[in-house]
Amino acid sequence: MKKTITLDASYDKYAGKVIEELLTVEQIDRRVAELGAEISVKYQGKVPIFIGVLNGSFIFFSDLFRKLTIDGEVDFIKISSYADQTQSTGTVLLRKDISCDITGRDVIIVEDIIDSGLSIKFLKRRLEESNPSTVSFAALLMKEHTQVDFPIDFLGFKIPNKFVVGYGLDVAQKLRNLPSIYAFK
Ligand code: IMP
Ligand code: MG
Repeated sequence: MKKTITLDASYDKYAGKVIEELLTVEQIDRRVAELGAEISVKYQGKVPIFIGVLNGSFIFFSDLFRKLTIDGEVDFIKISSYADQTQSTGTVLLRKDISCDITGRDVIIVEDIIDSGLSIKFLKRRLEESNPSTVSFAALLMKEHTQVDFPIDFLGFKIPNKFVVGYGLDVAQKLRNLPSIYAFK
């Protein structure tokens, strides 16, 4: 039996909706460890800058970072496009830019999930403007319907086209604290 949660009245317009566990703590932990190992091999002898995309990636970021056997620097960028809904508004806004110098550096952008692909296109364009040596992507999740015209170098899981929460991912800023990933039924 899959774990389910029925959202109560404190979730306003989502009250009464049921979410069902899609990926367990163990599955996530195992895959994040594999990604950490892959990145460590690929960047052996280098010190990449890991750029976490706020807010959703903060838990994945901290777990992934602790699985690395190479050293790395960290910084964060904040964008938004979902306006408390479950679909992209189509406009990506830069809420907080990076604050480090990435010129000539290896950059790894750490994202929680890729859906329409608009966010990562925006991020790639923004960071390439600052002339890094390389830019790659580590994303925990990507939806089945997602089409992107460049490779996602380190991808955790392909998931069905459902809205998911937990492990840092939110709906209207809530449910980030669930230790595993749940999908709306
Ligand atoms: P995209 O621009 O449509 O690819 O969406 C990317 C961003 O939207 C992600 O970084 C997430 O923050 C958010 N997002 C997309 N799908 C989901 C979801 O199913 N749950 C929670 N956040 C999501
Ligand atoms: Mg995000």
